[in-house]
Amino acid sequence: MKQAKIIGTGSYLPKRVLTNADLEKMVETSDEWIVTRTGMKERRLAATDESTSDMGVKSAQKAIEKAGINPKSIDLVLVATLTPDYTFPSTACIIQSQLELDSAAAMDIQAACSGYIYALSIAKAFVESGIYRNVLIVASEKLSSIVDYEDRGTCVLFGDGASACVVSSEGKGLLIRDTVLGSDGDQKEILIMPGGGSRNPASKETVEAGMHYIKMGGREVFKHAVRRMESSSKECIEKAGLQESDISWLIPHQANVRIIDAIAKRFQVPNDRVFVTVQKYGNTSASSVGIALDELLDEKKLTSGENLLLTAFGAGLTWGSTVLTNE
Ligand SMILES: CC(C)(COP(=O)(O)OP(=O)(O)OC[C@H]1O[C@@H](n2cnc3c(N)ncnc32)[C@H](O)[C@@H]1OP(=O)(O)O)[C@@H](O)C(=O)NCCC(=O)NCCS
Repeated sequence: MKQAKIIGTGSYLPKRVLTNADLEKMVETSDEWIVTRTGMKERRLAATDESTSDMGVKSAQKAIEKAGINPKSIDLVLVATLTPDYTFPSTACIIQSQLELDSAAAMDIQAACSGYIYALSIAKAFVESGIYRNVLIVASEKLSSIVDYEDRGTCVLFGDGASACVVSSEGKGLLIRDTVLGSDGDQKEILIMPGGGSRNPASKETVEAGMHYIKMGGREVFKHAVRRMESSSKECIEKAGLQESDISWLIPHQANVRIIDAIAKRFQVPNDRVFVTVQKYGNTSASSVGIALDELLDEKKLTSGENLLLTAFGAGLTWGSTVLTNE
């Protein structure tokens, strides 16, 4: 059987910075509250004319360059996002066109903040089965387009950004050892954008009711996030035939530093081996683990045989974990 590996990664963060001090001027909040409750100090915001696909293209170009492959050899573009440019056509088609990936199929994946892990799992299946050789994954979010900047319970949490990787059967990189995915649609209401779909089509009334913004039950989401990321991570480590002590880096979804700490506490991974970007970028949904992975690979020199554990959780509910081994 062919093996699927990540042979190149990339990320892109827009320039504009939204600090806690900026948020203090917008809603009833404080730097102290945001830092103690979330660990966040600032997040990035896309320019008004910068869309999810624009950011995705920039991160993809870096990933393709690092992979050192001819873009024309990409067989499939998978885009993980909950803030697509349009409901249709897919953002994957827009990125396929921008990058002139003439021989690629293209589709979007909607698994909210778990999108990067879901995409890795789908790419692994296509590559290992021999159906495709090179799959481009792009995770990109313009969350600022669906955040209510009058709701202090959500607006402090989210930021914009993109990440990408090339998954291939050829070349050297991070072997995708195993993945575990899960979902629980019974909990759909605790994290939702209720307006704009076929259930509540866009109308004057839905706009007036603020239904095109993120609605979240923070405390509930927190509990599920810790439970699901812990259990899927443990299952994935076991499936890969590894022990917790074999993991050299934990890269969790960057939703809240308290969620990250709670997960880290449940594993035999030392604190300095948990990669955290939440203080700089906030929660960038589908792109968050991909941004963290790209920064880790840039900053740390991995040795052969090191195992990385990626875990994420999001609306749906969805969750997923994967173990990568550096070749
Ligand atoms: C949102 C979150 C930071 C809130 O932290 P918390 O410790 O649970 O706080 P609570 O929701 O219990 O709220 C405590 C108080 O702070 C207030 N509060 C909420 N947001 C605030 C803000 N930005 N600034 C100041 N006060 C705020 C609440 O109104 C509440 O006040 P009350 O006690 O008078 O009602 C936290 O629940 C969380 O991170 N949840 C997970 C969210 C997430 O990860 N979502 C994406 C998943 S992919």
